[in-house]
Amino acid sequence: MDRNYKIDEWKIIEEGFRPENNRASESVFSIGNGYMGQRANFEEKYSGDSLRGSYIAGIYYPDKTRVGWWKNGYPEYFAKVLNSPNWIGIDIKIDGEELDLDRCKILYFQRELNMKEGVLFRHFSVRLNNGIRADIKSSRFLSLDDHEIGAISYTISLPEKGGRINITPYIDGNVVNEDANYGEAFWNEDSRLTDNGNSLLVTSTRKTNFSVAYAIDYCLYNKNRKIDLEPVLHSREMYVGHSFEIDATSGNEYTLFKYAAILSSQNNTVNDLGQLATAKVRKASAKGFDMLLTAHKNAWHKKWDESDIIIKGDPAAQQGIRFNIFHLYQTYTGDDKRLNIGPKGFTGEKYGGSTYWDTEAFAFPFYLMTSDLHVARNLLLYRYKHLGKAIENAAKLGFNKGAALYPMVTINGEECHNEWEITFEEIHRNGAIAYAIYNYIEHTGDKSYLEDYGLEVLIALSRFWRQRVNYSEPKDKYVILGVTGPNEYENNVNNNWYTNKIAQWTLRYTLDCIKDVKSSAPAKYKDLSDRISFDDTIETAEWKEIIDNLFFPYDDNEDVFLQQEGYLDKLQQLTSDIRAEERPINQHWSWDRILRSCFIKQADVIQGLYFFEEEYDTETIRRNYDFYEPRTVHESSLSPSIYSIMASRIDRIDKAYELYLRTARLDIDDINKEVKEGLHITSMAGTWLSIVEGFAGLKVKQQKLYLNPLIPDAWQLYSLMIRFRNKLLKISISQGKAEVHNLSDKQVCIMVKGEEKTINAGDKEFFKI
Ligand code: BGC
Repeated sequence: MDRNYKIDEWKIIEEGFRPENNRASESVFSIGNGYMGQRANFEEKYSGDSLRGSYIAGIYYPDKTRVGWWKNGYPEYFAKVLNSPNWIGIDIKIDGEELDLDRCKILYFQRELNMKEGVLFRHFSVRLNNGIRADIKSSRFLSLDDHEIGAISYTISLPEKGGRINITPYIDGNVVNEDANYGEAFWNEDSRLTDNGNSLLVTSTRKTNFSVAYAIDYCLYNKNRKIDLEPVLHSREMYVGHSFEIDATSGNEYTLFKYAAILSSQNNTVNDLGQLATAKVRKASAKGFDMLLTAHKNAWHKKWDESDIIIKGDPAAQQGIRFNIFHLYQTYTGDDKRLNIGPKGFTGEKYGGSTYWDTEAFAFPFYLMTSDLHVARNLLLYRYKHLGKAIENAAKLGFNKGAALYPMVTINGEECHNEWEITFEEIHRNGAIAYAIYNYIEHTGDKSYLEDYGLEVLIALSRFWRQRVNYSEPKDKYVILGVTGPNEYENNVNNNWYTNKIAQWTLRYTLDCIKDVKSSAPAKYKDLSDRISFDDTIETAEWKEIIDNLFFPYDDNEDVFLQQEGYLDKLQQLTSDIRAEERPINQHWSWDRILRSCFIKQADVIQGLYFFEEEYDTETIRRNYDFYEPRTVHESSLSPSIYSIMASRIDRIDKAYELYLRTARLDIDDINKEVKEGLHITSMAGTWLSIVEGFAGLKVKQQKLYLNPLIPDAWQLYSLMIRFRNKLLKISISQGKAEVHNLSDKQVCIMVKGEEKTINAGDKEFFKI
């Protein structure tokens, strides 16, 4: 296979510059620290094809939607995390000619993303049209130690002949989103300042009024000697910068250090923003690049020490999983309950940095099992804080009495997805939110969350399901009509098995939780019931009636759960019947043809079997798998991981491994040909799950941790780290053997292949597998 990047266990390496792949590389080499993200755009000018992208978490704009046929209930806007002022810019001219990789001869080019340390490095050598040869080495990072700081080291040398170099570090707020619906600019300038020390640009977003201050400072070194500079100051609308010139002698290296402090009104008092940013950048510059870098690297080392997955014997798989873990941590660190995980994180404009069901269904277990408890709790609290809006959202669609429908896409709790099939119909998202609460309680045992917040959300969700079902006389059953399941290649279907399953499960789980909270915290329960006017007798009786009488489509001939009523009326074909040149079908077929076909975009029935695996025997899972997998085109990045996990579950390790590679290297190998738009961050969590829940068979059931490991033939060993009940465990699986190392100071119990084992604090135990 042709790979875009070299295989390396800790790095992504691009050798040679291919302009046609530049947008994809800008996504792959993105850096971030949970609060900010930056695509791998060049510091110096680049007039070739590029998607400029600097993003700040939580800073969004309500872009007016474009909908031809407006209907009641459609959202008014699509929220976007914005492309924000460019803080990385450094313009270079040598003997009057601009350095621009699109306009000169590239002699050498290498880009490297060091995932162990969170640093983007670039080394290239060019011949300008005026004959000058220049070598450049640049490194940059967004600090994981101080989330408001970014730093760049940019070294220039002229190996053949000296010349006059003009250098301009700047901040430029004249930026746009490529996907702006009406070509509007989203930022206003509030103030700007440039003096002999540093430059400052204070901006604010239109409509949403977030303020962000950008302060930069810089200095230039020749070897270890700081050079005195006499800069020319530039200040114009939305732009501040300094230029200076040096006479560079051949063979000498000149390094510009550029520091940026980026402070938003989300975390600072708005009136002092400029001053605070200036003070902060001065402090950063006084510390210097190396010291900032050391603190940043240490923060990354700490993350890796507690969450690395090691795979021995398969470097491509190793690189894949580290790439996924790295980007997940770059996107979300979990310390701020206002933030969440966009499907593309901070690596592109698509999906607008908004929150989808992806968070609860895919990303949540990753943070739950790798991070401190507060991280997962914050993700749950994000939805708790949006409960009022979810109730309003349901009310807009005609539901009442405290029923909540969480949005399919949101930043501030309001729905901002404007395709009716998704907004009105893809209601299974409500179920994933309930499932995350369940998952959290199972893993952590933190019942206080349920008492204080979780139960309130569950009751509101159950109230929604109660109103969303209707009784069907001919069937003498309750039905859920007009939905879109996880398979978005099918709309407006009746009784999608997955949706019905998760609705029924939510109602049942809510009843269990009511019972629990009533006995563990009766006063809190009473308080909640009064506050939300919950009629314990009538409402729960209605829910029970639905649980017992909900309709589930089934096909006796195939002996499988039917994805929805009428699924088998479709012309039954397999994905092997589709010609290779027509894949992916979403880029080659009309939408009408896709909707009428039997092809499934992503796990749907299998998603349900994944969540509720313990309710089904292996034979049932196998039959459904064998029916649905050959019909699934996996055109959502969220699909292969779930199928990989379920392939492990039915002992199809080769299939599980094939799908693992597809999910783990989806972006590095650009399998779906869309990486230029950004990375599939939420699906990266699915990749992690396909090792942890798939190969290792780790799952918490009835509050116990189960380990049922398999190992792909290609691997000599793999090891992973998870937290369970506040205990850190390292689990290593090799051919025929599993080792569990209890790294905590308390005993832990674990079910290994069905047998309960106790491992003392600090001990390692081996098991045959
Ligand atoms: C998938 C959805 C997902 C969305 C964002 C779509 O392609 O079908 O399930 O929520 O992408 O990742």
